[in-house]
Amino acid sequence: MKLRISVTSFITLFVSFSVLSLSAGAGREGLRAPALDREFYIGAAVDMKPFHEDEVYRNTLAEEFNVIVAENAFKFENIHPERGRYDFADADALVAFASEHAMKLRGHTLVWHRQLPAWITGGEFTREEAIEILRDHIETVAGRYRGRIWAWDVVNEAVEANEDGFRRDSFWYRTIGPEYVQMAFEMARNADPDAILYYNDFDNEGMNSRSNAVYRLLSDLTRRGAPVDGVGWQMHVPAGFRIKNQHRENARRLGALGLELSITELDVRIRMPAAPDAYAKQAATYREVTGFCLSEPACRSLVTWGFTDRHSWIPAFFPGEGDALLFDNDLQPKPAYEAVRGALRASLLGRPQIREARIEGRDLLIAGGGFDRKSAVFLDWRRQNASVAKAKGNTMLLIRGAAARIPPGQTVSLYVRSGDGKLSPEFRFTRTGDGADDGNTTK
Ligand code: G3I
Repeated sequence: MKLRISVTSFITLFVSFSVLSLSAGAGREGLRAPALDREFYIGAAVDMKPFHEDEVYRNTLAEEFNVIVAENAFKFENIHPERGRYDFADADALVAFASEHAMKLRGHTLVWHRQLPAWITGGEFTREEAIEILRDHIETVAGRYRGRIWAWDVVNEAVEANEDGFRRDSFWYRTIGPEYVQMAFEMARNADPDAILYYNDFDNEGMNSRSNAVYRLLSDLTRRGAPVDGVGWQMHVPAGFRIKNQHRENARRLGALGLELSITELDVRIRMPAAPDAYAKQAATYREVTGFCLSEPACRSLVTWGFTDRHSWIPAFFPGEGDALLFDNDLQPKPAYEAVRGALRASLLGRPQIREARIEGRDLLIAGGGFDRKSAVFLDWRRQNASVAKAKGNTMLLIRGAAARIPPGQTVSLYVRSGDGKLSPEFRFTRTGDGADDGNTTK
């Protein structure tokens, strides 16, 4: 049968096809929509080569995510390739893109032992010279993007799981000494007072020698008053990885230091060629990790390390493994993508709500909805011992002795997590002078 097709409808067909292929989302509501409803940040690391060359790559980023980070463009070897010479071209392009698409931008990373340029690794420097190099780098880079970077990975991977379990041997450690870590945070705070300052590491998610070393480092820094605001869990994991109680235990002890948490480089690698159930196992891991971050008050954002299997570091660094991300080689969503979206949507449904909080004597009383005996209460993401109180048929939560932890005039964040892991919106509570309630829900 000869297919007769008019010129007009051919043009219409062609135009509509090209529009569809350009807009990667093809009408799909991106992950950023439910994430923003939840005041949550979901994002990906950006490879600048496809960023510059592939419009579908850029469109997918813009439609799906509300936070991005450069995979390599902000690293020392790329942004400061020669002594006295900086190259901001790629970083500037990403800052402009994030601004154009109302995205938060994570800065990765100011101080690391890898991807240092030859003029550093091959140079001979006194301690004072090395400190000046560190200062010049941080003040120039963090200063240039002041007010444009949401969170900086100020120091990356500074600990080593050895008997000392503390300091990793590196150019910075050898030339300056262990103090370089605190110096870097102080220089970053000075360069951009509004950026959230993170320490970032890998294999530091559960309770193990590495996470203990990170905890010791962060305890030491916070005790000294170093301006550290958050800790990054990179989470480069295999399909089948499960969230366990030890992850919540680790999140809690870090929260007790007053630190927020982000999952900064999530990818879930698969042994190739993929077994029939590999992508379902991968999706289950993505669902659990996303649900964990959504249900931990301290967990602010979840970033995957890349977003399409076409551009991922995994195959080169984990021979025989790959397909670790949310989108396939053709930038189409995988089961893992649907799992993340499902977790985001589920976190919106049936959330407990805090409507009122007030000091009563030495205690804090919280009123609202969706509370039960399994409810957990968090004060500035420190878990509190709470008991259920009944008043006029309402279920309230009572945190005994909490008044002592909220001096008059101080504002704290209150959260309630239900037994099935649903987290309430943040409730900002300011204790007024006379101890009356002055709380309000931010969302
Ligand atoms: O740009 C050069 C290119 O000109 C050259 O032709 C090519 C071949 O040698 O190399 C290119 O540089 C590579 C660079 O990625 C950019 O693609 C480097 O060799 C390669 O080592 C580098 O790998 C990066 C790796 O960090 C370095 O350790 C990965 O892309 C990057 O995803 C990875 O990211 C790190 C995080 O920063 C920290 N956490 C761990 C994570 C994975 O290692």
